[in-house]
Amino acid sequence: MEVNNMSFLSLFIFLIFSIVTVSADTPLSPSYYDLVCPEALPTIKRVVEEAVANERRMGASLLRLHFHDCFVNGCDASVLLDQTSTIDSEKNAAANVNSARGFEVIDKIKFEVDKVCHRPVVSCADILTVAARDSVVALGGPSWDVKLGRRDSTTASRAAANANIPSPFMDLPALKENFENQGLDEDDLVVLSGAHTLGFAQCRTFRDRIYNQTNIDPAFAHHLQTICPRVGGDRRLAPLDPTPSSFDNKYFTNLVSKKGVLRSDQALFTGGETYEIVKEYNENRNKFSKDFTKSMIKMGNIKPLTGERGQIRKDCKKVN
Ligand code: HEM
Ligand SMILES: *[C@@H]1O[C@H](CO)[C@@H](O)[C@H](O)[C@H]1NC(C)=O
Repeated sequence: MEVNNMSFLSLFIFLIFSIVTVSADTPLSPSYYDLVCPEALPTIKRVVEEAVANERRMGASLLRLHFHDCFVNGCDASVLLDQTSTIDSEKNAAANVNSARGFEVIDKIKFEVDKVCHRPVVSCADILTVAARDSVVALGGPSWDVKLGRRDSTTASRAAANANIPSPFMDLPALKENFENQGLDEDDLVVLSGAHTLGFAQCRTFRDRIYNQTNIDPAFAHHLQTICPRVGGDRRLAPLDPTPSSFDNKYFTNLVSKKGVLRSDQALFTGGETYEIVKEYNENRNKFSKDFTKSMIKMGNIKPLTGERGQIRKDCKKVN
């Protein structure tokens, strides 16, 4: 009898210990909202689909917002905070000002999700992560399971955004280092740059490339010069690949034919190890899609706030 009681006790202790260890190791879980608000994820998907149906580019913009969130002190919705006397908004960082978009869609999602859940239980950071996935799916890309349970920051940093969001003028070593600082390797760099299969870039981000670089297809450079003059027209748009509202592998086909729009895009096909990866994705669309999902999960898991850290914002634009 006594032996039995002892083994039950040790089993019990073992179980408690395992639960504690597991939750410390894997703070995020795909089923995080299943009990507390099963309607949360379908609601996010619905609003994203409506927004993308209304304007195809919005899918691209939402995907980019998640990236700009995760690269600045982790995926904590810091990118969504407005400027106040105590918040130095990341919206004013070089990469975001007059460029980052989709904030109204995030606000709409938050409103609808809090309504269907009857209280604010879903974080803005999780909304950004799920909206990025749903955007890719809405534009014909692959799907993946998003791990959930991120909490929202109470701070933002324009300086950290300026330091950490990569610039389109970077060369390959700089891009690699930038991604390494986030725990992402050069495979992640290449496959995540494939997000540029969606969306648009402003003239000011590719002017230097089309007038100064030689590793560019001349007819393509000439075409972009008709959109983007040497002086003025800074905000005129060119698609980042020939099919900016379809998630396909034409971005990589473009790189192979020296038709990358940004200096940082073409840099991936200038030699080194990334050259072979670009070639592979050009030849194998399924491999691109599959690897993209893996690296998106990796990016989405950068330094989440969990447990008691951070908060669940009531308004994604403000701390509670
Ligand atoms: C590798 C380094 C990267 C650089 C230097 C870079 C830079 C840029 C630039 C300059 C633009 C154009 C912005 C504008 O003109 O307003 C852009 C657009 C975009 N980027 Fe990146 N990016 C990078 C990686 C990524 C990653 C990892 C993702 C997502 C996983 C991403 C998603 C997008 C999307 C979807 C757009 C189009 C946005 C729209 O049309 O609203 N980018 N990027
Ligand atoms: C081309 O490069 C030169 C020298 O770096 C620079 O001064 C000039 O602004 C560049 N031109 C464009 C259109 O970016």
